[in-house]
Amino acid sequence: MTLTIAIDGPAAAGKGTLSRRIAEEYGFHHLDTGLTYRATAKALLDAGLPLDNEAVAEKMAREVELAGLDRSVLSAHAIGEAASKIAVMPAVRRALVNAQRDFSRKKPGTVLDGRDIGTVVCPDAAVKLYVTASPEVRAKRRYDEIIAGGGAADYAAIFEDVKQRDERDMGRADSPLKPAEDAHLLDTSEMGIEAAFQAAKVLIDAALKKI
Ligand code: DC
Repeated sequence: MTLTIAIDGPAAAGKGTLSRRIAEEYGFHHLDTGLTYRATAKALLDAGLPLDNEAVAEKMAREVELAGLDRSVLSAHAIGEAASKIAVMPAVRRALVNAQRDFSRKKPGTVLDGRDIGTVVCPDAAVKLYVTASPEVRAKRRYDEIIAGGGAADYAAIFEDVKQRDERDMGRADSPLKPAEDAHLLDTSEMGIEAAFQAAKVLIDAALKKI
């Protein structure tokens, strides 16, 4: 028996921090599915291959190794942009979703975070969370992260970027970002990640009692 927790939501809503915290608490395996799109995009960029050829991108997607994906080497803005371009391609999504589904079956449990986990990748997940926050709060979090890392950041540019990324993720035809019908909504604009974790814990503990 495997317990799967699906966590979806827009960029910089706090999904990553929340997912890692849950995985650590319960001893579950965690997959940040955004990294699978980013790794595919980086492989194409590194090989000098085009980002608008679905067959070429699909081949790269099939070769992505889920073990060892590391956000620090995949965080570049150009990689995020390229990832969101290939994420609209159905053949790329099919290849990555297959690998993500295989991962979701690991014992004793898994936490997957992304945009379409509760709706497409793991529709039978025991607990589905949709984590969101206002675009202003998300842009501020990203800004603070960059500043804390010693970088230079422009809030207005980051805010525009967050809004554009939302439009692309929510507006695409294949697997757009949206809450599953049975997802629990967690708005982290005011509650913060720790309170979101406590709310998630109550739901997960209840699901664990049922198995
Ligand atoms: O969460 P992120 O910024 O690392 O995601 C990179 C891109 O991949 C983003 O444009 C959305 C896309 N993505 C997706 O389409 N489906 C997922 N399950 C995860 C990410």
